[in-house]
Amino acid sequence: MTSDILIRTLEPSDAEGFRSLRLEALTVSPEAFGASYEEDASVSMETMRARLSARPNVVLGAFADQALIGMAGFAVYDRVKARHKGVLWGVYVKAEWRGHQVGKRLVQHVIDHASRHVMMLEATVGLTNDGARRTYHGLGFKPYGIQRKALRVGDTFYDEELLYLDLPQPGDA
Ligand SMILES: CC(C)(COP(=O)(O)OP(=O)(O)OC[C@H]1O[C@@H](n2cnc3c(N)ncnc32)[C@H](O)[C@@H]1OP(=O)(O)O)[C@@H](O)C(=O)NCCC(=O)NCCS
Repeated sequence: MTSDILIRTLEPSDAEGFRSLRLEALTVSPEAFGASYEEDASVSMETMRARLSARPNVVLGAFADQALIGMAGFAVYDRVKARHKGVLWGVYVKAEWRGHQVGKRLVQHVIDHASRHVMMLEATVGLTNDGARRTYHGLGFKPYGIQRKALRVGDTFYDEELLYLDLPQPGDA
């Protein structure tokens, strides 16, 4: 039952589950993520725990019977002149749980969280990634360009659609 799926912010104590799901994502869908399996596999558990405690950056996790089945990340740009913007990253739902609105709920939670911290949320998505494009477009993300050959996996290049979402601010009607 998808109504039984709990969505919450991952804490440092979730680092092992996070690492395992992240490495699964990079194995199953290498063309969907900027990081490679090898890059993330070499990240220490200490760094993983630190990534899960760097507020306001968060990774939201979807849980079924306490097992992590999906996730979506949010990060604010570091540099002073860009801190009004954030990035949606690392969206992944285990194959057997797809098509049940888990991805949509995760991204909506990221949007809700991001609205409390930044004015705009950015995302990139593979031009042929119909599931993710439909999920993001359905939640209001607007395309503003295409980056050609944004990613290279082996000998294959992938174009990416660049997306933004203006976020409601406190005090907006
Ligand atoms: C993209 C992904 C997160 C979607 O997760 P999901 O839980 O299956 O998505 P949802 O069930 O919430 O679907 C959201 C919307 O997208 C649509 N959708 C999902 N997968 C689809 C597909 N393969 N083709 C067409 N539409 C699809 C749904 O119909 C739904 O549309 P609606 O809101 O109009 O009803 C999941 O397919 C995934 O993990 N893919 C591999 C990793 C990846 O591509 N991540 C994104 C990186 S940018």
